[in-house]
Amino acid sequence: MTASSFPENFLWGTATAAHQVEGGNVNNDHWEMEHAEHSPFVESSGDACDSWHRWEEDLDLVAGAGLNTYRFSLEWSRIEPEEGEVSRAALDHYRRIVDGCRDRGLTPIATLVHFTMPRWLMHDGGWTGQKTGDRIARFTELALPAVRDAAYVATINEPNLMAVQPVIGGMARRGEEIKGLPVPDQAVSEALIGLHQRSMAVLRGAGSPPAGMTLVGLEYIDEGGGQEPMQAARAAMMDQFLTAAEGDDFVGLQIYTAQRFGPEGLIAPPADQQTLAHGMERRPRALSAAVRHAATVLPDMPLLVTENGIATADDEDRIRFTSDALQSLCEAIADGVDVRGYVHWSLLDNFEWMLGFAPTFGLVAVDRETFTRTPKPSLAWLGEVARRNGLG
Ligand code: FCB
Repeated sequence: MTASSFPENFLWGTATAAHQVEGGNVNNDHWEMEHAEHSPFVESSGDACDSWHRWEEDLDLVAGAGLNTYRFSLEWSRIEPEEGEVSRAALDHYRRIVDGCRDRGLTPIATLVHFTMPRWLMHDGGWTGQKTGDRIARFTELALPAVRDAAYVATINEPNLMAVQPVIGGMARRGEEIKGLPVPDQAVSEALIGLHQRSMAVLRGAGSPPAGMTLVGLEYIDEGGGQEPMQAARAAMMDQFLTAAEGDDFVGLQIYTAQRFGPEGLIAPPADQQTLAHGMERRPRALSAAVRHAATVLPDMPLLVTENGIATADDEDRIRFTSDALQSLCEAIADGVDVRGYVHWSLLDNFEWMLGFAPTFGLVAVDRETFTRTPKPSLAWLGEVARRNGLG
């Protein structure tokens, strides 16, 4: 390894999530929230990128660029549209995506739950419901045959961010200023950790591919006098989740930004350093800070960067951002942090949840009328980094 090269067999890929790209996911909680009166969603996910039909073209783009990994997620509401009713066709769809990856030399990374749940679950307890443990266990059993040939299976995407959502919702309703990610709701955190463990138990019992969860990772910065609130935030947001991952096969980290703290707690980033999405600070080096921290909590745990990227209309800036982020990752790996791969968010410009289609995280643009995919220069650039296995 030189100063800007990566370990042998390093994974290089891009990620998507079912609800953000498939389109027509009319049977999950998000669709319902998108269409509710006074919805906080600026628009409907609608047809999204029509990847339900165009997934082969998507895989061709990833493989054609020279990348070797594709991360995608399963949509529970398609697989189990009503409680106990199973769509074999939907399961087969996801199994074909795994096979389609393998056929193209792509390493598949499958996520079982990426934020969305079926409507029936939303109306009967949601993530914190009493029966949800049994239900996610059953869903995992159903889903496993479809993803058995994946290289990695993630149970739940970003449970630590999911536990922040209700807190943000409450602040928004009270008209409080949101300066960054507040501390997650502890009861929700514990419920989600419990669900991860139920799903893991099924995977373990059935001899699944290496399994774990993916977490939002952040760089934590003390601007002076902020040690106490910073440590408390990091303990709630990162350390309790990392500790809960002990015994898993890997931890996925999804790193976009930093959080700054002063004596009063969170400090919002200066306006001129905010990116297009979520008012996040543009902070490429957060990538190495977050993987380094995870390695201090879980020294023997293989880590995967399962998301990293930037929402920008300026593709050259995407390349600069990613190059700086990767340079910092390289340094962390050289210092001994066990990172096995880097998966960029996202393959496509897609449905960015409450913000709709405006934030563009994609390496590939998608025409909103025709769904035509147009690769941006950043796709070829990342493919070249993958071929070289280094920044060059
Ligand atoms: C992550 C989500 C992913 C995407 C990116 C920008 O928190 O996992 O679906 O929205 O942020």
